[in-house]
Amino acid sequence: MPSSMTTHLAGVQLRTPLIAAAGTCGYIAELPSVLDPACLGAIVTKSITREPREGNPPWRIIDLPHTSGMLNAIGLANVGLERFMREKLPAAAGAGTVIIGSIAGNSIDDYVTIARAFDESGLLPAVELNVSCPNTSDGLQFGEHPRKLTELLVEVRPALARTKLIVKLSPNVGDIIAMARAAIEAGADALTLINTLSAIAIDVETRRPRLSRGSGGLSGPAIHPLAVRMVHDVHCAMMRGGADAVPIIGLGGVMNWQDAAEMILAGATAVGMGTALFVDPTAPRAVASGLEKWVARQGCSSISQLIGQVRSL
Ligand SMILES: Cc1cc2nc3c(=O)[nH]c(=O)nc-3n(C[C@H](O)[C@H](O)[C@H](O)COP(=O)(O)O)c2cc1C
Repeated sequence: MPSSMTTHLAGVQLRTPLIAAAGTCGYIAELPSVLDPACLGAIVTKSITREPREGNPPWRIIDLPHTSGMLNAIGLANVGLERFMREKLPAAAGAGTVIIGSIAGNSIDDYVTIARAFDESGLLPAVELNVSCPNTSDGLQFGEHPRKLTELLVEVRPALARTKLIVKLSPNVGDIIAMARAAIEAGADALTLINTLSAIAIDVETRRPRLSRGSGGLSGPAIHPLAVRMVHDVHCAMMRGGADAVPIIGLGGVMNWQDAAEMILAGATAVGMGTALFVDPTAPRAVASGLEKWVARQGCSSISQLIGQVRSL
């Protein structure tokens, strides 16, 4: 990858600004058979909880072709902290790119325990706190109110002695800027915007929801303009605040290089891809190549020169 694509996310150097989103690459073991992980600046693991979770019964993923989206209610299925540390993390850490550990929990104590274990492993330069999963009964408890988020981060921050803290925010809130501000004031080194949108699809013949859990999280092209707007609003609010801008990972419906370029112009330092990997796991290769040519066409020597550079009307 040319140096024009090198990005720094809170001091962590990424070869490209493209990041595989949490939960969309499993534990990373299968990825190298379809895509050289070096095409990605980083990969976020699926969210890990303290205890193993089976997740929700089927159906827990459905395609919504007419909406250009995907609805999932996986329910944080994962092997749990102990097995992840013993089996999955050592293999993932050898994948050839930066690995970011994703943390989910039901209590502050859960988050702190996992954060401490990730930090002590020395294998993860950054962790991403999933406080925004809409697919468990309590997954949003810290992601909906600035005060609850602050209470969580005040405890998690000290557990990360050498690991950068990324907070992944939910779009299912009234005031995304208030959530971003709470995260930054409590010590977040970076933000990820956005997780999935809470949504329902109904089978009109059976008259039942199509997902076993009822509602799920909407992802893919359908949410892209909303994600761009949230990245833009949070970036602008940070700029107005005059403080050093905290880097944003722009995530939501990025399927091609144009979508990724929009995220950069809106204020993202790095760009996540999730649903796109289900459609075509090799997509990041084409996106990286398209971005590289775009940076040159814009007369820039580095993609970082284009962060937040959307022009006003
Ligand atoms: C099948 C599936 C599983 C996911 N699992 C997680 C997860 O474990 N943790 C998390 O923070 N986000 C999870 N997400 C949300 C994605 O990381 C991402 O925020 C969302 O899908 C929006 O990006 P996209 O439109 O590019 O897919 C999952 C999404 C999908 C589609």
